[in-house]
Amino acid sequence: MKKNNILLLPGDGVGPEIMSEAIKILDLFNSMKIIDLNYEYSDIGGIAIDNSGSPLTKETLEKAEKADCVLLGAVGAKKYENNNQKLKPEYGLLSLRKSLNLYANIRPIFLFDTLINSSSLKPEIIKDLDMVIIRELIGDVYFGEPRGFNDNSDGKEAFNTMKYSENEISRIAKFAFNVAMKRLKKVTSVDKANVLESSQLWREVVANTGQKYFPEVNITNMYVDNAAMQLIKEPKQFDVILTGNLFGDILSDEASMLTGSIGMLPSASLSDSSGLYEPVHGSAPDIAGMGIVNPMAMILSCAMMFEYSLNRADLSEIITSSVRNVLKSGIATKDLTDDNNYASTSQMGNKIFEDIKKSV
Ligand code: IPM
Ligand code: MG
Repeated sequence: MKKNNILLLPGDGVGPEIMSEAIKILDLFNSMKIIDLNYEYSDIGGIAIDNSGSPLTKETLEKAEKADCVLLGAVGAKKYENNNQKLKPEYGLLSLRKSLNLYANIRPIFLFDTLINSSSLKPEIIKDLDMVIIRELIGDVYFGEPRGFNDNSDGKEAFNTMKYSENEISRIAKFAFNVAMKRLKKVTSVDKANVLESSQLWREVVANTGQKYFPEVNITNMYVDNAAMQLIKEPKQFDVILTGNLFGDILSDEASMLTGSIGMLPSASLSDSSGLYEPVHGSAPDIAGMGIVNPMAMILSCAMMFEYSLNRADLSEIITSSVRNVLKSGIATKDLTDDNNYASTSQMGNKIFEDIKKSV
């Protein structure tokens, strides 16, 4: 059986707690000999700063480059908030994305039936919601140069550069169009072309790329402020949203609320040859170590890893159905219920584990 090498990066805050629940599933698959998974650990983010003085060490990067794929918990903690840019936990994640050339971030936004009342929106607005945000991940104002601080005679100033090249835009547009071809062939491209030059080029290149390579796909353009409103007003009008790094960051947090909890949402970040899988939520320092974080975004990120990097859509499907089954049985973590009698992180993880065990 082919050995699959996975690098595990639990990271900070709730990262290690949710990672433990994912590992139970990896170990189960190994023990049942349905796949051969070989995994090792490394540090990233705050824990890497503490242990080695850098949020992304050379060692972690080398391991990530050698692995077939990377599974990551979360990065970030309050105590590094005032560090300079390169000594912040987030810088470790951003450098990893950039170094591995993970330009395409897939964030599926879908509602498990049973969670329809966990969303703050009316049930009829979100019933059967199923869309996906394709976020460009290694360009835009996140990485644009120049950036920094200046000391002027009239005080300090700070600046960043919002920038996209034609190649960056057409690469992510093609990715999104390919996703759309397997869905409803409908892409909403989100930008701010009424104000920003980088968005004007974005709009032009998306249109040209679509026309040239994917004439069947219907493209709609939308300004980001309107998109933010439409997501709440009528989210089911969307199928594939294609957008840049910053707008994608903001819209995906917003869209997560449609599904009941950000604790449900997985993501995949892909290059042409490797993949990194992580929950959309962050390190949640306010609840870290309390054993109450929802492990489902992490477990569903594992499911995406089986589908996209390990070519095992069957195992991905098993994990997703087990999450659905467990939710249906009425078990919920704290983020999903007002009931005081909620499941802890490991109780939820164990329930999913047991359901998977029955299914394989
Ligand atoms: C995300 C996160 C990251 C981002 C942070 C942790 C750097 O918010 O993956 O959405 O801004 O991309
Ligand atoms: Mg974010």
